[in-house]
Amino acid sequence: MPGYPVLPEGLAYGGDYNPEQWPEDVWREDVRLMREAGVNLVTVGVFNWGLIEPEEGEYDFARLDRILDLLHSAGVYADLATPTSSPPTWFRRRYPGSRLVDREGHVLGGGSRHSFCPSSPDYAAASERVVTALARRYAGHPAVAMWHVHNEYGWANAHCYCPTSAEAFRAWLRDRYGDVGALNAAWGTTFWGLTYGSFEEVEPPVAAPVGLLTGLQLDFMRFSVDAHIACFRRERDTIRRFCDLPVTTNFMIPNCKPMDYWRWAAEVDVVANDHYLDSGRADPQIELAMAADLTRSVAGGRPWMLMEHSTGAVNWQPRNLAKRPGEMRRNTLAHVARGSDSAMFFQWRASRYGAEKFHSAMVPHAGTDSRMWREVVALGADLRELAGVRGSRVAAEVAVVWDWESYWALEFEWRPSADLRFRERVEAYYEALWREHVTVDFVHPSADLSPYRLVVAPSSYLLGEAPAKNLHRYVEAGGHLLVSYFSGIVDENDTIHAGPHPGALREVLGVAVEEFHPLREHETVTLEPFSATGRIWSERVRLAGARAVHEFADGPDAGHPAVTRHDLGAGTAWYVSTALDAGSGLRGLLGRVLDGAGVSRPRGLPDTLELVWRGDHLFLINHGDAPVTVHGVTGTGVLDGAAYDGSATVPAGGVVVVRTA
Ligand code: GAL
Repeated sequence: MPGYPVLPEGLAYGGDYNPEQWPEDVWREDVRLMREAGVNLVTVGVFNWGLIEPEEGEYDFARLDRILDLLHSAGVYADLATPTSSPPTWFRRRYPGSRLVDREGHVLGGGSRHSFCPSSPDYAAASERVVTALARRYAGHPAVAMWHVHNEYGWANAHCYCPTSAEAFRAWLRDRYGDVGALNAAWGTTFWGLTYGSFEEVEPPVAAPVGLLTGLQLDFMRFSVDAHIACFRRERDTIRRFCDLPVTTNFMIPNCKPMDYWRWAAEVDVVANDHYLDSGRADPQIELAMAADLTRSVAGGRPWMLMEHSTGAVNWQPRNLAKRPGEMRRNTLAHVARGSDSAMFFQWRASRYGAEKFHSAMVPHAGTDSRMWREVVALGADLRELAGVRGSRVAAEVAVVWDWESYWALEFEWRPSADLRFRERVEAYYEALWREHVTVDFVHPSADLSPYRLVVAPSSYLLGEAPAKNLHRYVEAGGHLLVSYFSGIVDENDTIHAGPHPGALREVLGVAVEEFHPLREHETVTLEPFSATGRIWSERVRLAGARAVHEFADGPDAGHPAVTRHDLGAGTAWYVSTALDAGSGLRGLLGRVLDGAGVSRPRGLPDTLELVWRGDHLFLINHGDAPVTVHGVTGTGVLDGAAYDGSATVPAGGVVVVRTA
């Protein structure tokens, strides 16, 4: 595959390295400690623009030369970054037209990163110049193993509403629709008489009286993704003029809603992701696993790189919880289990300055006489032992549908209930599958679904005709499909499919919905014949080929179907019209659907044990506080050297990886 592997051997271990914040005697200490911890790759220069180009057109590479030479002498590779996510102060002063403007029309200030308009021609020219200078100078440097373009596209400037962006948006619309009549038809502008006479009349979706055209909002989201991808391509193609090393940029899956990473993935040589534990959650390891599975899926199943995570607390959550002993190890190894060929952190050495001085690091403020440093060194040893997993794949029998466009559209204003949230449903289903020890891939609804025994669509509000047909064909050919409420409602323009809901899925599900009955906050309904409850949603389902498996026992739809099953062709399509409670409701139903689809999974294990196969390696990660014995395990313990012959016991909070015979 292009651009892979990045390093000559093993997994990559390291982090963002910002030596420019330190005197040079600290650099020597840094490389000594890197060797002690087994660090072999560091991201360098990521916010360096103002340092390497202190005045426009005047370059000073002396410091970066010394850093790269020092790393090379220590046998540490560089993931060399282009510094374009943080334009220098002179750029802002000299090119005021490049400033970022928010929806309310405020021109955002400087003194931070990402404060620029992605459609600015001045930004394009200046960033291309600095990247050209960097690539020309370092293309052949022996320390450089890969290129890291920019940092987290869309992190703070996903959308810009300045006049330049507005003009670029209109050009994008001209390209997409050709004539304004086609745009009017797509956006349904006869509604409120909002018909456009020409493209010149279109404004971006700036702050306006409530009720903005949703087609306008959707297209602006799509345009903005393209604007950032154009920035990436410009830099990537500049680098490729000088060398053929892998080029990537760090994604923020799944926590940057405006970026459609299915589209992004095609642009990079290797998918790289940043993920930070949401320590406020009850079981944050489940969201971590979801992020890793989604990243692997975006990468098309190929190995990917964990480009940033944290050794301990971050600095930007409401309460920044430190990781408990062993938690960093479990987090890192869960990413590796789910397909990452690297374990990189933000950052190498804790910073003393600016906004991120309370963020954890591999070398904390406390120094090396600290639990964190000891865990960092131990993790390096674990990763060396795990070198053999590099390049291997994770197999999944179940797919979960994830479409960023559906995510965006569902959450525009004026939906039937404020409780209809994309991630609420996706995470509910993901968690139930995680607790059943089922590894999943994520798929776009138009993807090839034939490898999967079961496809789950927890929140597919927006679903075009072609992807809906794809799901239909999948079921007819013998697939099992499970769909949750408020799916298949609108097409790619946010226009309701004609006829009863769920228009795009009516035939495959064999149901028609007469009326939505969203529930009040905290209201629940009961299902029979098994005792489950539903929240958020109820609706009047009419059977049109399917049969009712469960009915509502009370609430607005008492006596009517709540869960249905439609046998179609060689397959089966299930429909669930409420938010089933996590216990007997959702897991109970999923258990039966998984069994019906023939999905294999271990039984009788506590639902705090994470179990993932990567190639011939079995990862057992115990998030609980009691040891767990897993039967049927034979092979060699990769981390502990133990010989497992029939069973393996994973200590509380521990990790066992078995290379199976
Ligand atoms: C990331 C970013 C890093 C650092 C980190 C802190 O989003 O790429 O530069 O800011 O967050 O958690």
